This record gives sequence, structure tokens and C-alpha cells, in this order.
Amino acid sequence: MSDKATLTIEGKTYEYPIIVGSEGEKAIDARNLRADTGYITYDEGFANTGSCLSNITFIDGEKGILRYRGYPIEQLAKHSSFISAAYLIIYGELPNAQQREIFRENIRKQASVNTAMNAMFDGFPARSHPMAILSAMMNSLGCYYPHMASNNREQDLEHFDEAAALMISKVRTIAAMSYRAEKGLPFVWPRVDLRYTANFLHMMFSEPYNTYEPDEDTVEALDLFLLLHADHEQNCSTSTVRMVASSGANLFASVAAGVCGLWGPLHGGANVAVVKMLMEIHKNGDDGSTFIRNAKEGKARLMGFGHRVYKNFDPRAKILGKAVERVLANMGRKDPLLDIAKRLEESALSDNYFVDRKLYPNVDFYSGLLLRAIGIPLEMFTVMFAIGRIPGWIANWREVAITPKQKIYRPRQIFMGPPRRELEDIA
Ligand code: ACO
Repeated sequence: MSDKATLTIEGKTYEYPIIVGSEGEKAIDARNLRADTGYITYDEGFANTGSCLSNITFIDGEKGILRYRGYPIEQLAKHSSFISAAYLIIYGELPNAQQREIFRENIRKQASVNTAMNAMFDGFPARSHPMAILSAMMNSLGCYYPHMASNNREQDLEHFDEAAALMISKVRTIAAMSYRAEKGLPFVWPRVDLRYTANFLHMMFSEPYNTYEPDEDTVEALDLFLLLHADHEQNCSTSTVRMVASSGANLFASVAAGVCGLWGPLHGGANVAVVKMLMEIHKNGDDGSTFIRNAKEGKARLMGFGHRVYKNFDPRAKILGKAVERVLANMGRKDPLLDIAKRLEESALSDNYFVDRKLYPNVDFYSGLLLRAIGIPLEMFTVMFAIGRIPGWIANWREVAITPKQKIYRPRQIFMGPPRRELEDIA
């Protein structure tokens, strides 16, 4: 294979280097394109654009492969915990026992938030969406730790380890607080004896007069959920984090922007949309066939199906589908929405509309059902995704921050508006 791509424009020929990734992915290095030719590329939605070189996560969408730092997601799901996977994603290697303990301890000691933040929760009107609160609070955290949020790259990197542990820890406390604020419930302090995921459930559901003791299966299932969401290369929210980071902005500001990117129903908000869709189908007494017909006619969208990168099963959907069944079976419960989801999946996978467009279940198809089984309220689903995604956003911020001569993200456009015109004297 040639190591150059040849491009002919207006009768002139130009050569561009080919870059090959460690898994054989090929790209044309077009960095000099405009300077050489005066042309830019047009790639709506960036479907053909590599915005960076990254060492963190690998996806092969055609084969349904996802790896964090080289490790297959199936193996991590089986043998790792969310906190170990977070360490792996951020630092590149799984922690040894001592590193894991230090990391856990750093996270543990950051679990509470400054009580001055309580007043900020009071400032939000009733029924404020927890994603809005989460984004605002994650950004505000930087105000309490200005030495970690200086927008001086060297200084922010010097405090990176502390800031990373702090964010992983406090996002969970803030998430639980936003839920309790919305419900008019008192905030619950974290417990020093509980591990990461159990502590979150405690802060969500304990009462001053009644301690919530989550069972092992529930904690394990939620930990798996978080691990499966921990990173997913250059999706909408992670690209947002990198975009903000590329201006030199600190970790807190960059992650807060990522939370906003995640919120929309085409991205992290899809886990809410899926469950609402299943509830609607259930309420209408549809076996799913009417909904599938509507989706094919463009009148509805089968939420939790389709993906920009996966043109095969999203491996996370497979793991989550099994986890929902396991959790419900352990609880001795049934969820009619799970039966509808399975029927929808079966019909879609044997229907030409979905087969031809390579639309398969994505991570959100079963994740909401898992959260529902665990007892997480619907309005918190996307917040749960955000808690899981924090390590990925942190790792991507760091990758931007440590890249020498990192360029600011600044795409171009093709202007289609009115050409120059003169202002008339309307007086
Ligand atoms: N239901 C019905 N039709 C669909 C669906 C769907 N879920 N997804 C895509 N299609 C169709 C489109 O209508 C289009 O059909 P056409 O070629 O006849 O016009 C074709 O498949 C290609 O779809 P695009 O929207 O162009 O694909 P894109 O890569 O831009 O979008 C996306 C990917 C946004 C995920 C899309 O599949 C979707 O909206 N899915 C539902 C929302 C969802 O589940 N989002 C979560 C994604 S995972 C995550 O972000 C964590």
C-alpha cells in the first residue's frame, strides 16, 4: 500500500501522507490541505473526520469491538470494577493493589462537598432538571479549588491527580444531592466505610431516620453500568470536552460542557427516551409492531437503536441486556417493559429497514431498564451516564493538555448566506 494519497484538483496533483493507527485504521493527513489547495473538506457531523490521535479507547464499529486501553470491554466487565477501569482509562494501565488503594483513598476523602454549595442547590427552581444542576455544579467546583482550575496548563496539570480523584468522587455526591434537592429531601453525608457505588446509593436513598443498605447484586449491577459507560472515544460529549480543553480551559469547565453535550436525546438522553418509548408502547397495548411500522415510515424513531460508529451489535448492549435479566431474576421480579424491548429487538433485527441500515441496539437500549430495576428514578438516568463517563472525559482532557503544541479546535465552514450587500439609508 502506498503511504501517500493523491488528490487532483483543478488539474493539479497533491500528495498527502497516510496515517495508520495501531489497529490498522487508515487516515489521510489533510492538515496542509487548505494551505496547499485553498480547499477545505465538508463533512457534516464529522463522520469521516479524525479530530485527534488518541491512545485511550478503540472501537471497531463494523465488528462490534470496544476496548479501553487495549482491554476488551467483555473482559473488563467480568473482572474489573468501575474504579479500576477509571484508573486504567485515565492513566493507561490497570492499577496494582497499592495504586488502587491510593486511588480509592483519594476518591474516598473527597466524597463530601463544601457546605456553601448547599445554598446553590437552593437557588434552583423546583423541578430543575438534574443534568442542568450537574453541569452548573461541576463547573462551580472549580471556584472552590481555584488552584486546580487556573487555566494555566502547567499548573492545572500539576494538580491533575487530585482534581481527577476529586471529580470522580464529587460528581456522585452532587448527583445524589440534585436528586434529593428536587424531591425536597435532606442531603445525606457520604459514609467512609462504603465503596464508591454503594456510597452513591446510600447518598441517594438513605434517610436520617432510616439507613438504606443496598444488596450486593444491586451494587454490582450499578458498578457494571458505570464501567460500561466509562469511555467511548470521540462521541458528542467527549469531543465537546476536548473542544473546550483545546482553548486551555481547566478540567472543571471542560467536563461541565461535556455534561451538556451528553444531555440530548440523540446521545446520553437516549436512555430516558428508550424507557419513555417502552412505557408508551405498553400503555397503548401495542406489541411493538405498530411502533416498528411508524419508525420505518419516519413517524417515530426506535430509541436505543442505531449508532454513528457501530454497524453491528454494540457490545455494551449485549452485556447490559443480560445484566437486566440477571438482576430481575435475582430480585424475583418481572418488568413488562423488558418483554417489549426484547420483542422490539427481535422484530427490528429481522426487518429489512433496520438490517439494510445496519441499525442494532446501542448501549441505551437496555441501560435504562437496568437502572429501573435497580430503583434509579427516570429523571436521573442521564446523570448516571454522566457519572460513568467522568473518567473518559478526564482522560481526554488530559490527553489534550499533555499534547505538545496542541492546536485549538477550530473547524471551518462553507458560508451559504447572503454575499456582501450595502446598507441602504432607510431613514
Ligand atoms: N430508528 C429508525 N430509523 C433510524 C434510527 C432509529 N433509531 N437510527 C437511524 N435511523 C435511520 C435514519 O432515519 C436514516 O434513514 P435514511 O437513510 O432512510 O434517511 C438512517 O437510519 C441513518 O441514520 P442517521 O440519523 O443518518 O445516522 P447517524 O449516524 O447520523 O445517527 C444516531 C446515529 C443519532 C444514534 C441515530 O441512529 C439515532 O437517532 N438513534 C436513536 C437515538 C439513540 O439511541 N441515541 C443513542 C446513541 S448511543 C449514545 O450516544 C450513547
